[in-house]
Amino acid sequence: MTGNGDKRATLVVGGTGKTGRRVAERLRARDLPVLVGSRSGAPPFDWDDPGTWAPALRGADSVYVTYYPDLAFPGAAAAIRDFSRLAVQSGARRLVLLSGRGEPEAQAAERELRESGAEWTILRAAFFFQNFSEHFLLGPVLDGEIAMPAGDVAEPFVDAEDVADVAVAALTDDRHIGEVYELTGPRLLTFADAAAEIGEAAGRDIAYVPVSPEEYAAALAEHMPADEARLLTDLFASVLDGRNAHLSDGVRRALGRPPRDFADFAPDTAATGVWEA
Ligand SMILES: NC(=O)c1ccc[n+]([C@@H]2O[C@H](COP(=O)([O-])OP(=O)(O)OC[C@H]3O[C@@H](n4cnc5c(N)ncnc54)[C@H](OP(=O)(O)O)[C@@H]3O)[C@@H](O)[C@H]2O)c1
Repeated sequence: MTGNGDKRATLVVGGTGKTGRRVAERLRARDLPVLVGSRSGAPPFDWDDPGTWAPALRGADSVYVTYYPDLAFPGAAAAIRDFSRLAVQSGARRLVLLSGRGEPEAQAAERELRESGAEWTILRAAFFFQNFSEHFLLGPVLDGEIAMPAGDVAEPFVDAEDVADVAVAALTDDRHIGEVYELTGPRLLTFADAAAEIGEAAGRDIAYVPVSPEEYAAALAEHMPADEARLLTDLFASVLDGRNAHLSDGVRRALGRPPRDFADFAPDTAATGVWEA
């Protein structure tokens, strides 16, 4: 039941996450029916339990697909292949996939989705602003020290709000079928630049400390299994090796407007109090 008469729903996989939550909010604001696909959804959806996929897809005409933990991780391409084929068999016409820039493994997953027979759109996003405010870099920001295996490489950080705007456009407007959008912000920033802009907005000292991949993996392994720590480290070390240090025009191409700047995000986010110690 979608509660919206005979309108078919959009299944938002990861619908409580950084981009999925924003996509679901936008669809609901347009009075479009939404099904949330996550382990806490009703019915629950779990990437690790394919038996949950068909019940979650029931009634879905389109799907926003975010893979967890990361589309570049082993097993992701096979899961996307099986899920996207099942989605089409279940009656979903349109699939919009969140992917990452400069990740060959993620591109293997993209190919699987493109071959599903669905109308597709691929969103290849840069590193999200919200990693600093809602995700794994919030703790380091609060501790005043952001350590990353990124040297002085620049990244065109992108706002998850822009990613969600493009996702909703792709889910609701035929003009985006068959497009691959590389989504970046309007400006290249090093992690030191980002730390300084957050520090200025939050009124605190926040240092960026470049670390080696080995140091980073060892620190992560204190909080997660060592093999997962290694996979995440390898992912960061590769996407932050300079290959992505350029701007792309995906937000403007999809939406006809420029992407939001980190210089707007940092003060707006500081005002929410999330960076108060
Ligand atoms: N962060 C970045 O900078 C960045 C950049 C480019 C691309 N990406 C891509 O973004 C994707 C993640 O999307 P996101 O950042 O919007 O989400 P997210 O914030 O990481 O949120 C995770 C979502 O997935 C759900 N989830 C967690 N484990 C799950 C499981 N085993 N099965 C099903 N759902 C699960 C969570 O809900 P429950 O806990 O209720 O299950 C939540 O809704 C990744 O594939 C990554 O490749 C991220």
